[in-house]
Amino acid sequence: RILVLDFGSQTAQLIARRVRDQHVFCQLVRHDLTPERIRELNPKGLILSGGPSSVYEPGAPLPHPGIFQLGIPILGICYGMQAACRALGCEVKPCLSREFGHTQVRSADTDPFLVGVPDEWTVWMSHGDQVQNLSEQFQVLATTDTCPNAAVKHHTLPLYGLQFHPEVTHTQFGEQLLANFVRNVCGCHGNWKMSSFIEEQVQSIRERVGSSRVICGLSGGVDSSVTAALLFKAIGSQLSCIFVDNGLVRRGETEQVRKEFSEHFQTDLHVVDARDLFLNQLAGVTDPQQKRKIIGKVFIDVFREEAKSIKDAKFLAQGTLYPDVIESGANPDGPAATIKSHHNVGGLPAELGFELIEPLRDLFKDEVRRMGLELGLPEKLIWRHPFPGPGLAVRCLGDITAQRLETLRAVDAVFIEELEAAGLYREVQQAFAVLLPLQTVGVMGDARTYEDVVALRAVNTDNFMTADWSRLPFDFLQKVSNRVINSVRGVNRVVYDISSKPPSTIEWE
Ligand code: XMP
Repeated sequence: RILVLDFGSQTAQLIARRVRDQHVFCQLVRHDLTPERIRELNPKGLILSGGPSSVYEPGAPLPHPGIFQLGIPILGICYGMQAACRALGCEVKPCLSREFGHTQVRSADTDPFLVGVPDEWTVWMSHGDQVQNLSEQFQVLATTDTCPNAAVKHHTLPLYGLQFHPEVTHTQFGEQLLANFVRNVCGCHGNWKMSSFIEEQVQSIRERVGSSRVICGLSGGVDSSVTAALLFKAIGSQLSCIFVDNGLVRRGETEQVRKEFSEHFQTDLHVVDARDLFLNQLAGVTDPQQKRKIIGKVFIDVFREEAKSIKDAKFLAQGTLYPDVIESGANPDGPAATIKSHHNVGGLPAELGFELIEPLRDLFKDEVRRMGLELGLPEKLIWRHPFPGPGLAVRCLGDITAQRLETLRAVDAVFIEELEAAGLYREVQQAFAVLLPLQTVGVMGDARTYEDVVALRAVNTDNFMTADWSRLPFDFLQKVSNRVINSVRGVNRVVYDISSKPPSTIEWE
């Protein structure tokens, strides 16, 4: 495996992603991992990521100086290169002019790190500092007009540095450079496979769990289902699952979870009907953050109560993915990245008293899907759109009542059914309906109506941090609109959301 030491760059994840594209397992770890811990993890190479700081500022995150003496190949990228070079006697200073964007880089070297790269190519730079005075221990591998040390190599240590970012798609031959590093420099063979990762996880879960019982919370989504499937493969009937029906799920969701469960797992399932409790607690609440808070709290209370009824449970399995990883004491090696803020509704606090098992926490979404398919879960479940923890509560703008939720569910069901029927469901990454807190005038037959408005939202996105509204065909939208207005009582107007994120968000609340 390769470890990426995370110095806070937004592209640190992307580095890990690119390395894994080479079929080499790669994990993000905190920037100051000690040499002892690194030795224990036994990686074949280290990559020091970029970062927003300046290495010469007081308090800047720096790698442990001992890591350069481990004999493990190291690649420093941007800030990572500066930190490495500075630790080994070079001088890092601000550039005369900061450099962002495309630049031509030149190299005539034949180092194994540069195999397959031409003499001149385009790379993507984003830096305000650079290594100015290279110590004699280093040699230059590549330069640009403004950056004399665009790629460097240490004479005696297996250490390389790149001032530009090989992980971004704007850098030509970036993939080649990363492949050269992991294969030619680190000697990785590129035979990491999902099936072997599953086997490793199964082994380690079995060793950790012994004969204890594990609880897994199901949400109906991909991540918790894959977690449950993996746990089931590892420990079979020692697994108990809990699904909390909060009444804020889509139409048919609870039955769907039961059905999928009985088809794929022959173990203990607890479905808790907490619909009334959630509805009561949410009565009269219209503020979105307040809704989230209440739902989060009630969920924890209900889950805790149910978990108490499961004897000998010592562990709690959660489907936390890499992108969900917020700073967490649970993984001492984990990077201290704060990625999402309000997206952890539905998470469970440490005080629940269980030891956590998070077998997906090093994976990206598409890898989780691959794992799910490999574990035999159905395609339909694997490709289900993400659904927020607070569910329909944040799509039912204004007051949440049983009746308004029913209206929303009915519209949502029409939209999703039509997307599936038109083969468009997988063309968008998320689609849903929103019930607005206002009425408009309409005319049906000869009568004037004054009824609800619903909005349809569909987005295309890579990572849900930015998103574009989906250009669904007009004919399709017309069909959905007709069906909604004709079949859902109380709705007389349908609008389509044509805002991108930013400046809008995907959800309306
Ligand atoms: P926004 O609306 O912030 O949504 O653009 C980005 C993604 O996050 C989901 N989302 C949530 N997920 N709890 C969740 O578990 C929440 O409170 C929450 N709010 C938004 C949203 O559905 C989209 O996929």
